[in-house]
Amino acid sequence: MKKVGFVGWRGMVGSVLMERMIAENDFADIEPVFFSTSQVGQAGPNVGKDIPVLGDAKSIDELRTLDVIVTCQGGDYTNEVYPKLREAGWDGYWIDAASALRMADNSVIVLDPVNRNVIDSALDKGVKDYVGGNCTVSLMLMALGGLFNEGLVEWASAQTYQAASGAGAQNMRELIAQMGKIHGDVADKLGDPSSAILDIDSQVAATMRSSDLPTEHFGHSLAGSLLPWIDKEMENGQSKEEWKAQAETNKILGRAADPIALDGTCVRIGAMRCHAQALTVKLTRDVPLDEIYEIIGKANDWVKVVPNEKEATLRDLTPTTVTGTLSVPVGRLRKLNMGGEYLNAFTVGDQLLWGAAEPLRRMLRILME
Ligand code: HSE
Repeated sequence: MKKVGFVGWRGMVGSVLMERMIAENDFADIEPVFFSTSQVGQAGPNVGKDIPVLGDAKSIDELRTLDVIVTCQGGDYTNEVYPKLREAGWDGYWIDAASALRMADNSVIVLDPVNRNVIDSALDKGVKDYVGGNCTVSLMLMALGGLFNEGLVEWASAQTYQAASGAGAQNMRELIAQMGKIHGDVADKLGDPSSAILDIDSQVAATMRSSDLPTEHFGHSLAGSLLPWIDKEMENGQSKEEWKAQAETNKILGRAADPIALDGTCVRIGAMRCHAQALTVKLTRDVPLDEIYEIIGKANDWVKVVPNEKEATLRDLTPTTVTGTLSVPVGRLRKLNMGGEYLNAFTVGDQLLWGAAEPLRRMLRILME
């Protein structure tokens, strides 16, 4: 049985990974060892079998005894520990949720329902580093992978609606705290049916602009508003989140040398953990919509085509419906006024599941095959 070390398993992505691994009985097939940066020697989590006490996540000597390391600890940890481990001659598999090694020449971005062929060929070549993709990119490919793999995408533009969880656990808490503060400041007026809506509105705006609103993590009001910039500034005017779309999609698909153009605007909205995105796809030819439905819908077991009807869309294509599930619905499929080669699409996915934990869990399973 392979000895598999887990680092960062207590954080948000790590906790979702643990939940999924327990649900799928993954621990039965491995010898798990849990690591910590702060609670070395204490008892590890209950995963349904006996495990040793927590190891030291910074100890190269302990880590180098493992066959596989799965880390959700973040990029700083990867940057500190990974080079030392490789320098020490460790030759095991490194499975990482952080972006630090994503674009490295010797890594593969894992999303096996879309790029199992790329993963298999890397395994054959002896590649040892497997990294989870950016959540928006992975969710877009889970939804539209069929079109990409059929060579039907000339270019695509995504306008995103990204949840608070993508920014971190503290940001999710802050979003709710902001909502509560905004509501609390107008609760009396809301309870009075004769109060004027414009008075309520101006109080809401005043709260959103006030220094009393909790903004330590977002820096601004997200509740009642939106934030049209995610991650760092790039020199070309893109945000780093926008830059990732083209870079990571083409790497996932194994076509970095012949890239498909992808670009758009990434926006944070007040959803909890589901990212949504509206896409304009320039098709390589005018494919009839019924064929598009079929190509998209049969691409993997989790994508679900939602008919372009109001009731079905509002029932099945929202963060409220999708949150906490592995389903990746895609709908609003129609040809745009620009012509038969221009496809509209809208998709929603849980960014902690297919956007983060699930591809890592499945990569570990592939190594166990
Ligand atoms: N960068 C993403 C976001 C999350 O901020 O929503 C992780 O891929």
